[in-house]
Amino acid sequence: GMGRVFVAGSINMDVVATADRHPKVGETVAGEAVLYFPGGKGANQAVASAKQGVPTTLIGRLGTDAFGRELRSFLAAQGVDLSFVKDTDGTHSGTAIITLANADNTIVVVPGANGLVDADDVAAPVLAKGDVAVSQFEIPLPTIAAFFRRARAAGATTILNPAPAKPADKALLDLVDVLILNETELSLLTGTELRDSDDPLRFAEAARTLGRGKTVCVTLGKRGVLALVADQPLLVPGREVKAVDTTGAGDCFVGALAAQLAIGKPLGDALAYANIAASICVQRMGAAPSMPTAQEVEDTLSPRRPGESR
Ligand code: RIB
Ligand code: NA
Repeated sequence: GMGRVFVAGSINMDVVATADRHPKVGETVAGEAVLYFPGGKGANQAVASAKQGVPTTLIGRLGTDAFGRELRSFLAAQGVDLSFVKDTDGTHSGTAIITLANADNTIVVVPGANGLVDADDVAAPVLAKGDVAVSQFEIPLPTIAAFFRRARAAGATTILNPAPAKPADKALLDLVDVLILNETELSLLTGTELRDSDDPLRFAEAARTLGRGKTVCVTLGKRGVLALVADQPLLVPGREVKAVDTTGAGDCFVGALAAQLAIGKPLGDALAYANIAASICVQRMGAAPSMPTAQEVEDTLSPRRPGESR
């Protein structure tokens, strides 16, 4: 069947300063460029899903400012349904101040309107069986719980990307079918010290403590993704690419995976697909503007020979 993807989440303008290295605390470095990219984890994930050709609805809030107008027109042009994105007076649109050096970023995110997304907002759209409900930690946690309770009641699958990392109670995690997180988030939620360089099986062990039967995907950057499916570990190796900007790569993975699940793809295929999508995303500047189309992902999965048509 063909489900829809519903993303309840943040919408930010990413204000990016590029430099050849990051400043230390108290230090000033000269930068190269100031760039404005649509971003925010919710918006990024919605764009990643919509660009797979899967009907995608974003639920969120913008300020009534110039960034808000720009973000709305960008997202509409990507094919994201914005019927449930409200303009909100008395606050600003979410804004992320990003420094980018050597393809790595630091981010300060100021929620503004995102902080006001509430239970009524997520109660507005009607979900159905086969739909996929996605959220992240840039909107209030009680709102996410309300959204997932409704989604579950409708027979939809729930996907949580608990990013940026913050503590969450078990009651929220119990509402999740698929958890997608990186090692920092996994460390925080499980109270285990995990490092980038750890054996993937250590990640699997930690993931197991998050609840039996849940699907847990640990994104490991260059190393790929370690998934725990019905308690069995599955490693999807990363693709070697030259990264220019990793901002939004995790979001690309989440959005592409949600879209694949909504169209009924088996989890293993969906993981491989989302992994390729993220590897394309990191080769381009910006968060939301760097999300690949279905065609781009398919061409990478099975490259066409010159002259060959599909
Ligand atoms: O995950 C990347 C996103 O995090 C950026 O687009 C920025 O807006 C922050 O929210
Ligand atoms: Na990118």
